[in-house]
Amino acid sequence: MNSMKKVLVTGGAGFIGSHTVVELVAAGFEPIIIDNLCNSDISMLDGIEAITEKNIPFFNIDCTDLDAMMDLFQHHGPFLGVIHFAAFKAVGESVAKPLAYYHNNINSTRVVLECMAHFGVKNLVFSSSCTVYGQPKENPVSEKTAWMSASSPYGYTKQVCERMIADTSLGSNLSSVLLRYFNPIGAHPSGLIGELPLGVPENLIPYITQTAAGLRSHLTIFGSDYNTPDGTCIRDYIHVVDLAKAHVAALSWLEKQSPICEVFNLGSGNGNSVKEVIDTFQEVNNMPVNVVAGARRPGDVEQIFASADKAKEILNWGCELTLADALKDAWTWQLKLQE
Ligand code: NAD
Ligand code: UD1
Repeated sequence: MNSMKKVLVTGGAGFIGSHTVVELVAAGFEPIIIDNLCNSDISMLDGIEAITEKNIPFFNIDCTDLDAMMDLFQHHGPFLGVIHFAAFKAVGESVAKPLAYYHNNINSTRVVLECMAHFGVKNLVFSSSCTVYGQPKENPVSEKTAWMSASSPYGYTKQVCERMIADTSLGSNLSSVLLRYFNPIGAHPSGLIGELPLGVPENLIPYITQTAAGLRSHLTIFGSDYNTPDGTCIRDYIHVVDLAKAHVAALSWLEKQSPICEVFNLGSGNGNSVKEVIDTFQEVNNMPVNVVAGARRPGDVEQIFASADKAKEILNWGCELTLADALKDAWTWQLKLQE
């Protein structure tokens, strides 16, 4: 293995990590996955390997375990860089279990930074979130938009991790990119990898696909009285394959930089309402979804969508896939899950 193409992908068995591993292989990198499978299934590896036709090294390690991580860096490095996905990610769950979120998200990032410093690994790509902006005063939000207070412990862990990485970058050799994802959706068009929501989904798209599949009786729209054109919340939905490609672009860019810490929004630049998403899903898949209007969900922001101009300008990255593509691929994945 050409060591300078080796990329450590933490949380690589998860939704965004698995798609990124596929794109890393396509771009000539050699990903190594670590994941403790707390929110994923080992079968995701089969999907990745079927798409890439490669065996991807996998290690079942908890990123908060400093000794195990040091050992991995020692015996499987040197790495060109690390893409750090491993974290808990459910907003509502973070309100119920804040300490679990502070422990997992913050300690895993601290351990990754310690190992990188110890072994002289220079490049870090970090999974942040648009949730760091809170409810912005204006849309679209750019990287310069001021942060409002985080609306959940999950959001706060992303603010803390961003700060921790920025602080570590100062006066060190670390080069980092903080990627603020908007709403990642969809699945690989092959239907071989996708999102594995455990239990009752909290997110809109898996709830739509499970309702269309008859696994849920109906989808509740959380609030129809917002100050938006059709009264429902607006988000910026981005196809997970486009998102995965942005990680390759970020890593390739980082390779050529002197120590730096840059932040990029990753969204489509379009705001779509909940109703528009449901209508598009029904139209492209020709599948009805039983919908009822419900109360607002506590903690939801009314509307947020990205300006992704900076990523276009500096990383030469932009979305190639549409909301309709993502909703088609999400449905193909749902059907595959039921086989
Ligand atoms: P996911 O849960 O599908 O993937 C995360 C993976 O990390 C899982 O496979 C899980 O088993 C693993 N993991 C978690 N803690 C770990 C630990 N301590 N050690 C080893 N492995 C661990 O989530 P995802 O949607 O792929 O999200 C990836 C990253 O992107 C997360 O950091 C998340 O906060 C961030 N993010 C996600 C979204 C989204 O809506 N999906 C939006 C913004 C940011
Ligand atoms: C939020 C965070 C995002 C985080 C993600 C992880 C913000 C702005 N975004 O996304 O950073 O990574 O959680 O879970 O905080 N909806 C319904 N009915 C449903 C489910 C959802 O109407 O059954 C609506 C929601 O009210 C929201 C939209 O659909 O308006 C999208 O919701 P969801 O998919 O949960 O994502 P966010 O909450 O936007």
